Amino acid sequence: DLIKSASQGTFIKEVRFLEETESTNKSALTMAYHGAPEGTAVIADAQTAGRGRLGRLWISPPGKNIYVSLILRPAIDPSSASQITLVAGVAVAEMLNTYCPGRIELKWPNDVLANGRKLCGILAESRVTAEKVEYVVVGIGINVNMEPGHFDESIRGIATSIRMEAGAEIPREEVVARLFLSLDRIYRLYLETGFGAIREKWLDCSGMIGKDITVSSPDGLVKGTVVGMGAEGQLMYLHE
Ligand code: BTN
Repeated sequence: DLIKSASQGTFIKEVRFLEETESTNKSALTMAYHGAPEGTAVIADAQTAGRGRLGRLWISPPGKNIYVSLILRPAIDPSSASQITLVAGVAVAEMLNTYCPGRIELKWPNDVLANGRKLCGILAESRVTAEKVEYVVVGIGINVNMEPGHFDESIRGIATSIRMEAGAEIPREEVVARLFLSLDRIYRLYLETGFGAIREKWLDCSGMIGKDITVSSPDGLVKGTVVGMGAEGQLMYLHE
């Protein structure tokens, strides 16, 4: 099928489809722990306990969206592991730009927005030792065919989908196929040339420079203005 043929020649070597699982990240983490190789992907039609950032739930109804997790085993320094989220963000943003040209924006570290509303979330979970990144599971949730009424009231005003932005129902397999091609291109670029090129692309897709933000720091909430991204992927901001 479309997804299998798109994966040919990419680093994605095996794709597992599940009707329903608690969380594709959880499934992929278990598989990685038991030795599943880089390039193993888990896709589910529905999740019963989809994981969001900061312990939040990612609402994951069947038949509408994409919930996918990929096992990566990059030969990078453990201190660079957080860059993987940014690598995935660039790949997703470039792919989504083909459906919603000029409207996609990245928000540090892992949100992908269209017209300021959340279209996709990324959650990387990893096992890292002092010397080595054992594996990183990159989980990507993309709202594909959701309509306003499908979203939980609590997020209706801040969420969107490809369908809502592009004005047409989109086959999920096509989005997954394009996502895999985009991830392959950007991940290879990262492994072969380092974080510099990813940083440039991330900044191109980010509407954050010059914006006022509030961040939580060891000293509590701090207000500042975003001025850029450090060479390692840190958000750089000036205190108010
Ligand atoms: C966020 O809070 O913005 C991150 C959401 C990540 C959701 C995806 S859906 C596929 C994968 N499996 C999960 O349990 N979470 C991620």
